[in-house]
Formats: sequence, C-alpha cells, structure tokens
Amino acid sequence: MASGEGQLDVARVRGLFPGLSDGLVHADGPGGSLVPESVVRAVSQAMRVPIADRGGVFAPSARAEQLVSGARAAIADLVGGVPAGVVLGPNMTTLTYAVARALAKHWRRGDEIVVSRLDHDANVRPWLQIAAEFGLVVRWAEVDIETGELPDWQYDELLTSRTRLVAVTAASNAIGTCPDVAAIALRAHRVGALVFLDGAHAAPHALLDADVLGADFLALSAYKWGGPHVGAVVAHPGLLEELHPDKLVPAPDRVPDRFELGAPPYELYAGVAASVDHLAGLCPETGGTRRERLATSMTAVSLYESALFSRLDRGLRSMGHVQVLGEPRYTTPTLSFTVSRLRPRAVARELARRGVCAWDGDFYCRELFDAIGVNESGGAVRLGLMHYNTVEEVEHLLDTVSSLR
Ligand SMILES: Cc1ncc(COP(=O)(O)O)c(C=O)c1O
Repeated sequence: MASGEGQLDVARVRGLFPGLSDGLVHADGPGGSLVPESVVRAVSQAMRVPIADRGGVFAPSARAEQLVSGARAAIADLVGGVPAGVVLGPNMTTLTYAVARALAKHWRRGDEIVVSRLDHDANVRPWLQIAAEFGLVVRWAEVDIETGELPDWQYDELLTSRTRLVAVTAASNAIGTCPDVAAIALRAHRVGALVFLDGAHAAPHALLDADVLGADFLALSAYKWGGPHVGAVVAHPGLLEELHPDKLVPAPDRVPDRFELGAPPYELYAGVAASVDHLAGLCPETGGTRRERLATSMTAVSLYESALFSRLDRGLRSMGHVQVLGEPRYTTPTLSFTVSRLRPRAVARELARRGVCAWDGDFYCRELFDAIGVNESGGAVRLGLMHYNTVEEVEHLLDTVSSLR
C-alpha cells in the first residue's frame, strides 16, 4: 500500500524488522512477533550504561527509575490507562495468577466466577485453580462451535448477585474471534462483578481502550506487538490499592510496585517503551500525543491487516480439502485450519519446508479445541498476520496450502 495520511507503507515497515532478512514468511505472530530494530537498540543501549536497582540517590539508580516509568507510561498510552495503574511482570500468565490470588483473599466460599471456553488457558486455569482452593463456583461461557463466536447474551444466565469476576478475552489467539466484550462487561458490572480482560492477542491489531471495553483489569504481553518478553496488567490505581498480593516486607507497598516481585528486567523495560513508540510511529507523518498517534497508526494497522486477512480467509475457505475453524463476524487476522487426511504437524512441516513459520497444536486454547473436537487429531494449524506481512506472502501461503490437496 502506498504511503499516505493514515496509511501503512508496508515496504518502509518491513525495513524496520531485522528478522525479516531470513526470507521466511512469518505467519506465527500470535505466538510471538518479530522485533523492530528500534526495540533491539533500546534494550542494548540500556545495557551499555550502568543501571542499579531503584531507590538509590545515585545516577544509575535514577536511570532504573526512568526505565520503569517509561515502560508504564508507554503501556498506559497503548490502552488508555494511567501509568500508576500499570503493573509490570515477567508475562501475562504470571501476573494473572498473582491478581487471581490477591482478589480471592476478598471472596467467600460460594462466590462465583465466569470463565470462557474461548480463552487462552492463561485466563482460565488460574481462575479454576483459585476457585478450587477458595471454594468458588465456576460458570462457563460457551462458544458457538459453528461460528466460533462467544455470544454475549448467555451472560444474562451466567451472572448472579454472587458473581465476583468475569474472565474473558478481547480476541482469540487461536481462531481470531473478537467477542463483544463491552456488552459482556456491562452485564458483569450490573451485578457488581469485576472484569479481567485478556488483551494479549488483541493489542497488536487494534487500538484498545480499557475503559471503553469495560476492563477492570486488562492483561497484556509485549512480545505480541514487537516488544520484549514482559507482561502487564492495567487497572485503576484505586482498585489496585484494595488488593494485597503476597510480597516481601521490605519491598515497596505503594501501588503498582506492590505487585512487582524482585528486581525487574530494567533493560527490557526500555524495549517495552520502544515497542509502543514503534506502533505509534507506523504512520510517521502523523503528529500529536503518543496516544493520538497510536489511534491513527492502529487504525491503519487494522485496515491493512483486515484486507490481507480477508484474502487469506477467503482463499482457504474456497479449498475443498481445508476446514477453517469457526467463521466469526469480528476477528483479528488469525485463523486455525485443518487439512483433510493430514495431521496438523505434517501440514506445519510442509509449510516450514516451503519457508513458512506456522504453529500447530492447540495454542493453549485447550478448552476451545476440546469443544471443537480437534485435539485428538493434533489440533490445527494457525496462521496469524501482522503489520509486516504482505499480500505476496498471503499468496505464497495460499499456494502452499493448495498444493497439499
Ligand atoms: C490470548 C493470550 N493470552 C495469554 C497468553 C499468555 O501470555 P504470556 O506468554 O505472556 O503468559 C497468550 C500467549 O500466547 C495469548 O495468546
């Protein structure tokens, strides 16, 4: 696409990613995206100068403080939060376990939580395990297996005055589906329940706004959008104040630090800020605050990716030997498919032989793939597009899958 106001210049974008020089088609973005040079540079520059732990009165300690506040400010801009509500941690899974445990301390036996069959296991298992430990009742929101959608109307039945939390994903990392999370959150809030929203898969594909989505907690993972392996949970600072996670006594008790255990990877935090700057800079002719530039660039990303994706999706669905799982109305540029008479591992191997990086398996969506019934035959193959993929790559994907007939 040619460069223009609010449009993605994909040739320029591709030049920002050193990893693309391997010549492979990277259709494995949902499992971890490529990293732009600016992120690599930010991490290495942070390691070239002395950094100490925070809290000291000397320069390397002040530098660490800046790296933490830089990462918090960037993530807050990415999802419309405030830096004081951004908890950083090793990954989304670890943070979800920590928040689940801190919340459960306030709940009573017989309180209820609602999880969904669409979600990555990281937004299911921590809640189920906490429920077993604290005597909570678990209710399941089900996926319509034909469409791959998570109907929001079912929450009318699932929510009661005892519901304390609804855990749901903003987008499926396996079949792409974007549920109407604002509608689900509205229902949850009506009964006084909190919403823990998994934004890990959605964040690289559209501009998220935690308040508009109704997320009391929004969980993220920077390696999905070109950042390093760092996770985050964004919440209102006032809500974090009410929670008391397990922590060391001498460690700061203020929010959000109280949730962050041990010495953090300061150098990676430099990469987190650079990765959000990368997204904000995708339409370089745009001005304004970082959040405003993100609004423009993420709209351009969404438009670009959906055009690419509909070509891929339509192409695969037209092949008699291919079964695409679900057909959601609103989706991220991600799908899973099976091929008649071939196991997903064999398909992934053939794709790899033809220069395509693609995952096979259940992508940690164990509940969803059990419900669809593909786990016994090895799950499915997943193709996920990012803003650095091209129409030529989509054509190559289609040719390769077509040749498996
Ligand atoms: C939708 C979704 N949620 C959660 C996770 C877990 O993230 P992390 O690896 O940061 O724990 C992933 C990772 O694949 C994901 O795709």
